[in-house]
Parts: sequence; structure tokens; C-alpha cells
Amino acid sequence: MTVRVGFLGCGFIAAFHAAMLRSGGADATVVAVYDPDAEAAAAFAARWGSTAVESEEALFEQVDAVYVCTWTSEHPRLVQAACERGLAVFCEKPLGVDLAAARSVAEAVAESSVVAQSGLVLRDSPAFAMARRLIEDPASGRPMAVVFRDDQYLPVQGIYGSTWRSDPARAGRGALLEHSIHDVDLLEQLVGPVRSVRALVADHHGLGPIEDTVSAVLEHRSGATSTLTSVWHDVLSRPSQRRVEVFCTGAWVAVEGDVFGPVRWSRQEESPVVPGLEGSFENHELLDALAEGGWQGRNPDVAFVEAVTEGRPARPSIADALRAHVVVDALYRSAEAEGARVVVPEP
Ligand SMILES: NC(=O)c1ccc[n+]([C@@H]2O[C@H](COP(=O)([O-])OP(=O)(O)OC[C@H]3O[C@@H](n4cnc5c(N)ncnc54)[C@H](O)[C@@H]3O)[C@@H](O)[C@H]2O)c1
Repeated sequence: MTVRVGFLGCGFIAAFHAAMLRSGGADATVVAVYDPDAEAAAAFAARWGSTAVESEEALFEQVDAVYVCTWTSEHPRLVQAACERGLAVFCEKPLGVDLAAARSVAEAVAESSVVAQSGLVLRDSPAFAMARRLIEDPASGRPMAVVFRDDQYLPVQGIYGSTWRSDPARAGRGALLEHSIHDVDLLEQLVGPVRSVRALVADHHGLGPIEDTVSAVLEHRSGATSTLTSVWHDVLSRPSQRRVEVFCTGAWVAVEGDVFGPVRWSRQEESPVVPGLEGSFENHELLDALAEGGWQGRNPDVAFVEAVTEGRPARPSIADALRAHVVVDALYRSAEAEGARVVVPEP
């Protein structure tokens, strides 16, 4: 069965998913797209060989699966509408403008049992998969500390060019919710669930609740601690870039490129998991090294379509994204209390 897909929202991330569906050879057809910006919808439909329809309802009537790629405040209402119609749904992160909105998305999905996936795309990053393999290798010892730095230009400019990201009603908050929700999820993926947080946020651009600077300390249940620094600046030559260093009792691992590395490492003991005492992987070498260890990369959009076809759960799930919201909410509560320690519920 070829899955009939519809896109709600025809902006930056919708184009990314349409390209991933096509390049991955997904058994899916983009049959309808809708965006209140009719020009954006027409251009998107022309680019991806689809039809721009005049309402959300017209789209729902024609599709098996919906991509919710609108600005954040519209996610809960549209996911709810898709669930009521029994349609599979791919909801971009963040799920909503705050934790309550994110919970409403998770509840709608749980009650309807539709196939649903979230946009935590970095869970499929080869670079972070290699970092995780190195950290989890017993020869590396115990994780002790992570230094996670993330910076990009304020995304109301450049390739994003969005006005909604400076509007609290549509975006909710700034760099932490809109961007570093990925980082919070990755930190839990790398060194385990967070037990407590302390955070400060700042707004150097005068956008009020849309913070542009986040400085946080996260205590993990494993005993490791992480520091997270996330910044939105105005240097247009610096698009989104993360740099992550993980110190274990017997190893150092650094991710210097979000997807294809480099991933550098050195350690005290040899291990068959990744041979050698030090090394660096990027691009094809990184993929080859992962494949030798049995890692099978996947295109998350193709995986979503396959889950829809087979009627089985998709991942990263909406519950995975909700967990990241729980930690993000704790970080904001800490910042409101001038950096006080806030305990995070167990996953
Ligand atoms: N997973 C990721 O790494 C990633 C990356 C970028 C953006 N995002 C998320 O994706 C979402 C969209 O971001 P973007 O960069 O594509 O924004 P964008 O501004 O490029 O596009 C958003 C589009 O949604 C449209 N829209 C608003 N309300 C709508 C509705 N009710 N129905 C249909 N269309 C509607 C707007 O007119 C606009 O064209 C945001 O929630 C953002 O946080 C995720």
C-alpha cells in the first residue's frame, strides 16, 4: 500500500521531510499540502509534485498520514484533529509551546492509538550513535561529565527567516525549547536520565521570554553531570553547530559535527568494540565503523512510512518527545527560581 501523505505547513522543515521521503525511496505519495500562506503552499506543491488544497479538512479527507510542520502553537490542535480521524501523524518538535500543550499531544495520541512519530531527528545521527557506542563500551569506564555546547544564529534570519520564532504566542520560548530540546534528549541518550537541573537563561536581543542564552547544569541518575550552553547569536556564517565532549573514567569522546562527525576519542584500555587507543571518524569512515559493529542507519521519514504501512509503533515516539519537554520544563522552572535545583521526575 502506498501511503498517502499530507503536509500541514509548507516551510523549512516540511521541505526537509519531503526531500527525505523522496531520497529514501519511501513508498509514499505526497497527495496534498495545506498552508494558510497560499504562495508557500503552491511553491511547495509544485516542487514536490503535489496539490495545494484550500483547508485542513480537505487535506484530512485525502490522506493516510499527516506531517504537522506548522509553527509550534498549532501542533496540539492539528495532532488532535488527525487523531480524531484515525490518521497517522508525524509531529515536529517541540510538541507544543509548553509542557501542558505537549501533554495534550501525548494524550491525544495515546487515546487514539494512531501510529505517531516525533521530530527528534538527531536520534538517527551516526555521529551520536558512535559517541554512544564508545561511551557504553565497558572499556571506557563510567561516564563522569559532559560539556555540551550548541550555537546557531537567531533563527528569525538566514535560511529560517521565520517571524514566528520571536513571537511567544506561536513559539512559546526561545533557544532551549525551540532548539536545545534536541540537546536535552541527546544528553539523556548519551549518559542516562536526568535527576535534577539548575539553569540560567538570558535575553540579549530584547525578545522577552524568547531567551537567546541558556547555561545549565544537569545531574544524571548515573552520577554523571552535564553542562549545557546554548546560544542564539547574529553570526550568519555560523549555522547550527554542536560540540560535545564526554569524559568517562577511562575515555574521552568528542562529537564535532552533528551528523557525520568528526567523532574523536582516546582512552586508556584497548577494546574490541572500537579497536585502538585513539582515533577519529567522519563521513564514510564513520558509517563503515558503525556498520562493522552492526549499526543499521535509517532514514527516519522512510521508517515512519514503514511503521504506518505495517501498523506498528514508530520511533522516536511522542512519549520520547514528551520526556524531553519534562526536562526542558524543569530547566525553565529552575531559571525562574534564579538557578535553584529542580528535581526531574523519573522517566
Ligand atoms: N526537527 C528539527 O530539527 C526541526 C528543524 C526546524 C524546525 N522544526 C520545527 O518545525 C516546525 C516548523 O518550523 P519551520 O522551520 O518549518 O517553520 P517555517 O516558518 O519555515 O514554516 C512553518 C509554516 O507553517 C505554516 N502554518 C501555520 N499555521 C498553519 C496551519 N494551521 N496549517 C498549515 N500550515 C500552517 C506557516 O504559514 C509557515 O509556512 C516548528 O515547530 C519548528 O520548531 C524542527
